[in-house]
Amino acid sequence: MADLSALERLRAEFASRLAAAATDRALKALDDDFLSRKSGTVTALLKALPTLPAEERRAFGSQVNALKTEVEAALAERAAALAAARPPAGAVDISLPARDCAIGRVHPLMQVRQQVEDIFTRMGYEVLEGPEVEDDVHNFEALNMPADHPARDMQDTLYLSHPIVGGTWGAHRVSQSGVSQSGVSQSGGQAPEAQVRAATLLRTHTSAMQIRYMKTFPPPVRILVPGRVYRRDNLDLTHTPCFQQFEALVVGEGITMAHLKGTLLTLARELFGDVAIRLRPSFFPYTEPSAEVDVSCRACGGSGCSVCKGAGWLEILGSGMVHPAVFEAVGYDPEQVSGFAFGTGIERLAMLKYGVDDIRLFYESDLRFLEQFPL
Ligand code: DAH
Repeated sequence: MADLSALERLRAEFASRLAAAATDRALKALDDDFLSRKSGTVTALLKALPTLPAEERRAFGSQVNALKTEVEAALAERAAALAAARPPAGAVDISLPARDCAIGRVHPLMQVRQQVEDIFTRMGYEVLEGPEVEDDVHNFEALNMPADHPARDMQDTLYLSHPIVGGTWGAHRVSQSGVSQSGVSQSGGQAPEAQVRAATLLRTHTSAMQIRYMKTFPPPVRILVPGRVYRRDNLDLTHTPCFQQFEALVVGEGITMAHLKGTLLTLARELFGDVAIRLRPSFFPYTEPSAEVDVSCRACGGSGCSVCKGAGWLEILGSGMVHPAVFEAVGYDPEQVSGFAFGTGIERLAMLKYGVDDIRLFYESDLRFLEQFPL
């Protein structure tokens, strides 16, 4: 018996399955289920036509054939649509998520250096660098450490095997535009220094730049000198043969130790938060009086702990009032001007600030360490 409603059900079933068929494989399954020669449902109806009574065969046959044509057309249309949507062979899959790219960070030492530069720039200091290859005069002699002065032993020096002769190392100012220019044009009438002494050593401290600057520029002076320094030290928990310092030097009329203390307190609070400082009498040949400066230990609040080894204080730098002999060495009149200076290691500050107990970590380029210092 020809069953027209069965035909309608088949049509509806095909329509809903077609709507859900989004892949070639689903289309093939649909094709098989409805049109395959052996088991297709539409094929089965066609095969059954000869068994129908003659009067029904014609009308029903044309209905089944219409459905078959419809199904074939719909399948072909969907297959063409899928083919059109398929990317061409070798195409880039733009839906793939992008690979993560590693974003660089500012090295913790550079972060501290930038912070220090920022603090002093806001206080009106000029930031400048000096040469790392120095001569004896700037690194020692003019800083009141003549040959054979025992204070030279405080810093074990790396000497060049072949001195560099004839170099010219003037103080260089970093202008507002960031371009380094020779100090000569800004020397305010003072003769520029053409340094012809042989450079024989790697500077042991940034204090050498005090001399270079004062020989080149007249007072007043307010400078910050960050940079690398070198010493004959073996690598261990707290020493490296090459590290970074910064030096501050302020010279003018009426500069007193109160200015020094105020500046140190500002620096300490900016770097470490709400800390106290104390000045301990000390000795440096280029300052008189000299003081070592401690900050109160933040880990214990000053009561003593393992970080400060029970002292409640942590030493951060050396400082003092510029020694008259230094002023005389650079041609300043110690009766006219006074000044203060201080210098410290950037690694040391970074270790205290971040609680790092091994200086070598700063130089090992280990990302597990460096990634702990986001900006
Ligand atoms: N130059 C000293 C050092 O390397 C640090 C220092 C101490 C610098 C006292 C100064 C100063 O300017 O006044 O350990």
